[in-house]
Amino acid sequence: MPRARRSHWRVVIPLLLTIAAMGGLVSYSATLYRLFCAATGYNGTTQRVLADTAAETGRAVTVRFETQTAPDLPWRFAPVQSEVRVHLGEEKLVFFAARNLSDKPLIGHATFNVTPYKAGPYFNKIQCFCFSDERLGPGESATMPVDFYVDPALDQDANAKDLTVITLSYTFFPSADPTDIKDLSRFDPNAPPDAARGRELFAERCAACHGLDENKGGPMLGGVFGREAGTAAGYPYSAALKNWGRAWDEASLDRWLADPPVFIPGVKMPIRVLDANTRRDIVAYLKAESERPQAAR
Ligand code: HEC
Repeated sequence: MPRARRSHWRVVIPLLLTIAAMGGLVSYSATLYRLFCAATGYNGTTQRVLADTAAETGRAVTVRFETQTAPDLPWRFAPVQSEVRVHLGEEKLVFFAARNLSDKPLIGHATFNVTPYKAGPYFNKIQCFCFSDERLGPGESATMPVDFYVDPALDQDANAKDLTVITLSYTFFPSADPTDIKDLSRFDPNAPPDAARGRELFAERCAACHGLDENKGGPMLGGVFGREAGTAAGYPYSAALKNWGRAWDEASLDRWLADPPVFIPGVKMPIRVLDANTRRDIVAYLKAESERPQAAR
């Protein structure tokens, strides 16, 4: 074979092999495909983020919700609201209702996408039932929160200038191989506070800025329940929080987490927890940790 031809094949064959391998992997594994899509926002998948720290802008879009259930999962599944109007950067809580129509406990997993696909990279979810395998007891129903915002960077995307409506669709499938099973009863507003769940939520949503026994970007929270606000040793609080002068209890922590600067104007904690059941369990965890002696933490 002439030299030029040979070097040509030296490039083409590895390329073909790579493409075949990628195609094989993607079609072989739904999980890998989901991971790939979650990482890239490809094909209308959305992004998972810890918090909305973006500023709200003037541009608004309509977000519509659609739901489907695989024929072999006897659940009724529907959005509670058919659409919402949100400003770019505005964090929003919406709800979906699910009911197990069978007499057996069932585990489902929701897949999702947004259309048009070009909106996918800007659609950020903070909390979603679609992050885990969800268990619903026989005949039980649940109202599940989704906490999301649309990234204001969408406004800089020349391809998305005409975008006014985004559709978010979920499909619930029976979980083939459940790994991270959560019970949908956690969203029952009458359920007792669950400090163990609060511990996981704290790790996900608070630990980037808060430790129990060390100040980080935010003050240490180990003994925060019952402690006067703004008094963790060595932490540079805002004047607003330092001067507030009250001790933290269930009610005040709940209102704080729902929206810190609305509860105490002038404070500098930049995130919110919109879902009430999530706040309930995080507060239960902070309370349990505060009641334990520091040496036992
Ligand atoms: C991005 C960083 C960040 C995250 C994430 C964060 N916080 Fe904070 N938090 C702060 C800052 C900064 C302050 C101090 C505010 C001030 O001085 O005005 C604070 C203060 C607090 C306080 C008051 C403490 C005191 O000593 O008075 C509580 C309670 C609190 N945060 C709870 C939480 C919980 C619970 C979470 C998780 C849901 C959380 N925070 C997530 C940054 C954060």
